[in-house]
Amino acid sequence: MVDVIKLWEVKRYFLMGEYVVKALDGVTLSIKEGEFTAIMGPSGSGKSTLMNLIGCLDTPTDGLIEIDGEETLGMSEKDLAYIRNQKVGFVFQQFNLLGRINALENVMTPLLYAGVGVKERKERAIMALERVGLGDRMKHRPNELSGGQKQRVAIARALVNNPSIILADEPTGALDTHTGLQIMEFFEELNAEGHTVVVVTHDHDVAALARRQIRMRDGRMEE
Ligand SMILES: Nc1ncnc2c1ncn2[C@@H]1O[C@H](COP(=O)(O)OP(=O)(O)O)[C@@H](O)[C@H]1O
Ligand SMILES: [Mg+2]
Repeated sequence: MVDVIKLWEVKRYFLMGEYVVKALDGVTLSIKEGEFTAIMGPSGSGKSTLMNLIGCLDTPTDGLIEIDGEETLGMSEKDLAYIRNQKVGFVFQQFNLLGRINALENVMTPLLYAGVGVKERKERAIMALERVGLGDRMKHRPNELSGGQKQRVAIARALVNNPSIILADEPTGALDTHTGLQIMEFFEELNAEGHTVVVVTHDHDVAALARRQIRMRDGRMEE
């Protein structure tokens, strides 16, 4: 199997006044196509920094990152935006839905950026929402949905461009245990269909569902 995510000696330092925060301090990692990986580790250990770099939401201070065979160093903002839109689906702890628009419109958004016409946008967003079991909640705004439903809308939005990689940063962190496990089972299902899944979690039960577990500590990795 090919490596879809490759990091080599990746560092991400933040300058805070006179201090340098070494959020990531040399991470080398390969994730193969179709793998299901859990990332664990204490708060502040660099998990979100790592996910943001993999998802091309941020760029490293040093080191190399390859996504789906493409080296991201020196890529234009346009090419990075293409990776974010087409290759990666990102799911966040706080859902990050747009509050003023309904579930359907939220899921349609990435297709708008991809330049898909309105008819197809609607059709594909409806399919994605049906896929996560929210066919009957499409006209609801985020504040009219439960936490689990909001996260399912966010997953539909992450899936709508059919990305090969799904990244989820503590996707169950704002949900009760039962709802969280349902969401994780959904990620398992997506993985079984061939998506490469990387999930950050504090929960050992959740991590146990993943085949591979990586631990972060002080910006470094201990597998
Ligand atoms: N934008 C930023 N500016 C300054 N420091 C940051 C920034 N993002 C993260 N950090 C710091 O980097 C370290 C790792 O943060 P993070 O990756 O969010 O950890 P985790 O997700 O494991 O809790 C922490 O010390 C955090 O304060
Ligand atoms: Mg975090």
